[in-house]
Amino acid sequence: MGSYKLKIEGGRKLEGETYVSGGKNTAVAVIPAVLLCDEPCEIDNLPDIEDVRVLIDILKELGAQVEYDAERRHIAIDPRGVTQCRVSSEQSQRMRASYYFLGALLGRFGEAQVGYPGGCNIGSRPVDQHLKAFEALGAADLSDTEYLHVKGELKPGRRVVFDKITVGGTMNAMLAAARIPGKTVLYNTAREPHIVDLANFLSSMGATVVGAGTNTIRITGCPKLHHSSYTIIPDQIETGTLMIAAAATHGIVTICGCIPTHMEALSCKLLEMGVMVDEEDDRITIRPARKRYRAVNIKTEEYPGFPTDLQQPISMLLTTCEGCSKIEETIFSNRFRQLNEVEKMGAQVLVNGQLAMINGVEKLHGATLEATDLRAGAALVIAGLMSEGTTLITNTEYIERGYEHIEEKLRILGAVISRV
Ligand code: EPU
Repeated sequence: MGSYKLKIEGGRKLEGETYVSGGKNTAVAVIPAVLLCDEPCEIDNLPDIEDVRVLIDILKELGAQVEYDAERRHIAIDPRGVTQCRVSSEQSQRMRASYYFLGALLGRFGEAQVGYPGGCNIGSRPVDQHLKAFEALGAADLSDTEYLHVKGELKPGRRVVFDKITVGGTMNAMLAAARIPGKTVLYNTAREPHIVDLANFLSSMGATVVGAGTNTIRITGCPKLHHSSYTIIPDQIETGTLMIAAAATHGIVTICGCIPTHMEALSCKLLEMGVMVDEEDDRITIRPARKRYRAVNIKTEEYPGFPTDLQQPISMLLTTCEGCSKIEETIFSNRFRQLNEVEKMGAQVLVNGQLAMINGVEKLHGATLEATDLRAGAALVIAGLMSEGTTLITNTEYIERGYEHIEEKLRILGAVISRV
């Protein structure tokens, strides 16, 4: 795992059909959510990625029985044997989403102790809003320098007002509220598709969750949650990454099994650049409409705005557009590291804090590049596909955290990509 480099012979068009896997950012919340249940649950369409394997390790350490079938993308989890509410620091640091064990264990046991989360270094990632939400629900914050620690009987009838829109904070508060016998209202919530998916999963176990996908979520918890067999939604960011990769190589690619309405911010930008985006029920076809695409400006925002997770991949496409593009990254403070790398390929880039200016050049040339985080890794794969010559990408373990078999999927579309 991760001990190889990716080698890409660039300049080949991607052509054909590909399938999107289940959503990473849904899976990483739905798996811990099973701990809230009083009966076994089954989840389908799980992506076969490293983050899922880490969560399974944590579940097993907590005492859950887990049967995971990676090939069928299926997991059966029996949480009844879980009696402890502590996730070790060592395990927590293996990924960002370990913070969802806070909400899930607090909701189940009235106490949760979880080491500080790891994950991608894309700027400061505080959890103050998660803790604020737990306190508003009735828990005390007992965190120290090693562990996040919350404890207390959660009370019905509470309101949580987020000072900042946060995906993780919203989902964590939903988890904590799911078993409270009575109503909880969350205000200023994030609206990402994975929030709606988590709401649907909690509802399928017997909680009542209304308003997910808007900025106010009302949860009527249920102290005994029952068995659910749930299929998670397709990955919005993998869909977008594949759309951008197709556009970057000027090929014609159909991405099947996706939800086109989740992709509107990206689709609009691609259209503005001169990429044709044809949407059907569960598929999107990408076709180039120009030899060289037009430069565009991008500002990342919470859903339904342009997703920060696709800023890094699309920034590669902008390096060869006609004209100068501007990117404003408003969500994370350190999410332009892919641009330092792509300069080695001949891109013209100027980064100033949260702003990046990209002056389009005609072509990129192959180089040896270092993936600095998950989406930067995916971005560099795209850069390798669109450039002339050979590209070598190191630190591939970042990519494995969140993309299911990316090189296999690209190879089927005609990319010349291998592990070395
Ligand atoms: N923030 C706070 N306080 C908090 C929580 C967040 O100030 O208590 C700030 C963050 O520092 C950031 C902003 O609020 O500036 C948004 O953070 P958010 O909580 O929404 O992000 P997250 O939960 O840390 C999730 C995804 C990210 C994705 C963001 C935004 C998971 C595990 N991670 O992170 O995914 O970029 O939402 O959509 O779901 C990725 O998949 O590569 C990835 C980084």
